[in-house]
Amino acid sequence: MIYFITGNRHKYVEAKKIIDDIEMKHIPYPEIQADSLEEVAKFGIDYLKNKIEAKFFLEDSGLFIDALKGFPGVYSAYVFKTIGNDGILKLMEGKKERKAYFKAVIAYYDGSVHIFQGICYGEIAMEKRGEGFGYDPIFVPEGSKKTFGEMSKEEKNKYSHRGKALMAFKKFLNSQ
Ligand code: IMP
Repeated sequence: MIYFITGNRHKYVEAKKIIDDIEMKHIPYPEIQADSLEEVAKFGIDYLKNKIEAKFFLEDSGLFIDALKGFPGVYSAYVFKTIGNDGILKLMEGKKERKAYFKAVIAYYDGSVHIFQGICYGEIAMEKRGEGFGYDPIFVPEGSKKTFGEMSKEEKNKYSHRGKALMAFKKFLNSQ
């Protein structure tokens, strides 16, 4: 059994559908302000590794919008809490170029650190559609007309950054 250290139940439910042998554990850890998701995730591992007996992983993700030069990127959580989806849609008003991507970095600790990542390219919708969490209602992945918010968790996993990172992680676990 492996702990998924997160306070985000949505992330956990998505992960559980791909890797069954996990349990959610909420232990807050500092999310440092760094230039990359990898640095944030690795710092989290360093902070937690002496506090948890079992094997564990955490995940850090972000939305990178081309027309905003990669914003909100590593600031995605803060930007979601402050201006939210309405704020992003406002910043995108009048923009024809709506390409964006989500990136997820999983850091797994089993005595040493292993990093897995997934990227999902797509675009920012013209308006919010559906439910989900975070930026789900405003992100349409390439190959679909639906936003993540309009998809089931299973369907989202087929396209999503997290789904891809989890599949890479699962492959690694299976090869152990
Ligand atoms: P963190 O990885 O929890 O720091 O998430 C960064 C921000 O991106 C948070 O506001 C999340 O809600 C958002 N986010 C991360 N993954 C997703 C996703 O799959 N869909 C929508 N928003 C996401």
